[in-house]
Amino acid sequence: MGIQIRQLHPLFVGEVSGIDITKPLTKEQAAAIDAGMDRYAVLVFHDQPFTDEEQVAYSRNFGEIERAVGSNVTAEKDRRLSADLADVSNLDKDHKPLARDDRRRMFNLGNQLWHSDSSFRAVPAKYSLLSGRQVTVGEGNTEFADMRAAYDDLDAKTKAEIEDLICEHSLIYSRGTLGFSEFTPEEKVMFTPVRQRLVRTHPVTGRKSLFLSSHIGTIVGWPMPEARAFIRDLTEHATQPKYVYSHGWKQYDLVMWDNRQTMHRVRSFDNTKIRDMRRTTIAGTGPTVEQVKAA
Ligand code: OGA
Ligand code: MN
Repeated sequence: MGIQIRQLHPLFVGEVSGIDITKPLTKEQAAAIDAGMDRYAVLVFHDQPFTDEEQVAYSRNFGEIERAVGSNVTAEKDRRLSADLADVSNLDKDHKPLARDDRRRMFNLGNQLWHSDSSFRAVPAKYSLLSGRQVTVGEGNTEFADMRAAYDDLDAKTKAEIEDLICEHSLIYSRGTLGFSEFTPEEKVMFTPVRQRLVRTHPVTGRKSLFLSSHIGTIVGWPMPEARAFIRDLTEHATQPKYVYSHGWKQYDLVMWDNRQTMHRVRSFDNTKIRDMRRTTIAGTGPTVEQVKAA
């Protein structure tokens, strides 16, 4: 029996069965999964006990791996995983939960805000693939919101108003929202804001979506408070329960999502428990808008 996909939410999200993705895929299998991504934007797989190497190999079916550098405040020497994987766990190198006030943990709490991965990079991410190696049950869900449906439901006036807007995204903005505002000079450079279109069009399906993210700090040409109030309203619209799927994790689930069509966030969990989540990220193929060098 081949791959089967069962839709889990009225708008998006497919649960895939009939395939072992820890093993090399045929071209046809990879194409079927890619087509599933275009349609469902989020795919859920169960019982995929990946090693890091297998997860990287599987991810490569969908493009170039985006290296996990320049996206956190963890020193190189404290890194737990290879740079092919983003460490989305709450753990230090000794596999122990980080202290409540550890700077790395406080920074990573930004993942509780709705975002699209790497929207703070000039070339934002295409897919993210998150493997639950050790999960928290009944808490620490990951929620996804369908930015295509959220766009479709806007009135014509709003669609016209936002069509050509450009936003500035930075990790400094998303972390600042939570009161994390102390950055070293090197971090400030690393997290220099980038520009992104607010409305983007999917290259395969042609569907438009809202490119929202907590990393947004302003809209080019707008006063910052007006931009933030406007983005806050749009985000409130786009994350209404009708657009949201909540994933309760089972060990060895692999969830992959299209950052061009969705936002996501993790919900809070007991930080004394181990939550070992490892993400591979597929780089986007280009910027959404031309970057402008700071004056
Ligand atoms: C991510 C992320 C969600 C989670 O992996 O990009 O935002 O559930 N994490 O940890
Ligand atoms: Mn994320």
